[in-house]
Amino acid sequence: MARTPRPRPNAASAELARLYDLDLAEDPGDVELYRALARRTGGPIVELAVGTGRVAVPLAADGHDVVGIDLDPAMLARVRARAGAAGPTVAAHLALFERDLVDAADDVGITGAGPYRLAILALNSILLLASAARQRAALDSMARLLAPGGVAVVDAWQPSAADLVAFDGRLSLEWLRTDPETGTEVTKTVAAWYDHIRRLVTLTTIFEEGLPGAPPTRHTRTDALRLISADELTSFAEAAGLAVEQLAGDHDLGPLDAGSERVVLVAGRPRTSG
Ligand SMILES: C[S@@+](CC[C@H](N)C(=O)[O-])C[C@H]1O[C@@H](n2cnc3c(N)ncnc32)[C@H](O)[C@@H]1O
Repeated sequence: MARTPRPRPNAASAELARLYDLDLAEDPGDVELYRALARRTGGPIVELAVGTGRVAVPLAADGHDVVGIDLDPAMLARVRARAGAAGPTVAAHLALFERDLVDAADDVGITGAGPYRLAILALNSILLLASAARQRAALDSMARLLAPGGVAVVDAWQPSAADLVAFDGRLSLEWLRTDPETGTEVTKTVAAWYDHIRRLVTLTTIFEEGLPGAPPTRHTRTDALRLISADELTSFAEAAGLAVEQLAGDHDLGPLDAGSERVVLVAGRPRTSG
């Protein structure tokens, strides 16, 4: 039987995936956290919302079997390219699924490569699930993918009160960079709005890029980020049957306090649970 062709990412989403990596040229500094957890748990590992493989590819390079899940074929195309550039052994440790992470535990391809020792939801990806119900379902999905004794880790941005006040639609220039892939000069400008009733930050990002002296091309994306408190994250994890090991305030697993800009939850699936 002929194989179904892999859907080709459209040009606009391919550009946005490339610009995602340019944005992350400023290293969030979280990969060592995941490498350390992976050394502790061993594999297999599942990363939900794998993006362009910033975390998954180093884990595969460390010799772990990693499954990456993402909705966006353009992001997954970049994971393949990144893994391929890291060498055939790395690529052989990585399997990718184009899937909604909330449904991942119902996919026999994904469960068939498990059960997993470590499930990762990194770098604010939980906020992209724009309702409490979907965020809760993500924790459920992680718990169901884990083996007894396996560990889930979720990292979510906690904007300060001052940040939220400034999310009133004003435009701010975040950076100007040269993209090493294209040689273009790129600016990133953002505008954010905060809806405190729904705890939703709507973020419009405008990238303008061009070769020096040439008219720029504009790429725009809008994301809705539903903020989640440490308490809510804890209760979603516990409702999913996970036992919270640590609620930290940074990627070094330092304490969570009023000044923390993020919450990092580490939770285990009890060995005795079904
Ligand atoms: C902020 S990026 C994080 C990527 C990667 N984990 C990292 O740390 O660099 C969020 C990713 O989540 C993906 N995503 C958003 N909603 C999703 C969903 N419901 N299911 C699967 N992937 C999703 C997006 O396509 C994007 O690649």
